[in-house]
Amino acid sequence: MIQSTNLPIGIFDSGVGGTSIWKEIVTLLPSESTIYLSDSANAPYGNKTKDKIIELSIKNTEILLEHNAKLIIVACNTATTNAIKVLREKYNVPFIGIEPAIKPAALKTTTKVIGILATKGTLNSKLFENTSSTIDQKIIRKEVTGTGLVELIENGKINSPEMTKLLRSYLIPLLNENADCLVLGCTHYPYLIPQIRNIVGHKIQIIDSGEAVARQTKAVLDKHQLLNLSNTNVKYEFFINKNKNVLKQLVSGKGITIHQKVF
Ligand code: DGL
Repeated sequence: MIQSTNLPIGIFDSGVGGTSIWKEIVTLLPSESTIYLSDSANAPYGNKTKDKIIELSIKNTEILLEHNAKLIIVACNTATTNAIKVLREKYNVPFIGIEPAIKPAALKTTTKVIGILATKGTLNSKLFENTSSTIDQKIIRKEVTGTGLVELIENGKINSPEMTKLLRSYLIPLLNENADCLVLGCTHYPYLIPQIRNIVGHKIQIIDSGEAVARQTKAVLDKHQLLNLSNTNVKYEFFINKNKNVLKQLVSGKGITIHQKVF
């Protein structure tokens, strides 16, 4: 019988962005195998209804469970903020989610203005509203919908003039409004950090939740006695339901297999 500690961690996102979380997992938990679903055929989730996001999140979860995932990381702010409650009620496996790191930003800001770049689905969600109500209400939250950013990343246009133009249109107003923290509320956005830096310089701290998700994953695996400390045959399987070239550019290394498959 396969020991449950040897089973893989399941990860899903609307597309390739969740690989920014996968990288943090591999760094912190090098003995864990992973199965990653990139639902790129349905990206972006950010413009979809809550019901549709729940339906897609259930579909992804079922596939990961068929692959015996011992824990599932919802590596997507939009899916977490809209669907994780339903997933936790429906399935027994532990779930780790990701939401915009506005609490750390609220502690770091000195100008008391923070920018939050996220999808429409995340910014409109109840979970985001609840989390926002827990921070100091004197802090001004400038919420910016990153329309078009996920699509450009999914199409392999991270470093393109279109991307620079869009990012400038979203970020320059934040500089003018004296924001000193920028929360990246979408797992695709860490791939934009070099470009964001070019635009905002060092006037704004960039805050994302990737490392915190990896630490939380470790703690939950430990709590459920599912941590794998000694695996010498680590495998990283990726499934993508669209052209796999963009994914291939983002992940590389030993143990990786990428399958292009309809799901
Ligand atoms: N990576 C997803 C997130 O974190 C992108 C959402 C989308 O597909 O719109 O929100």
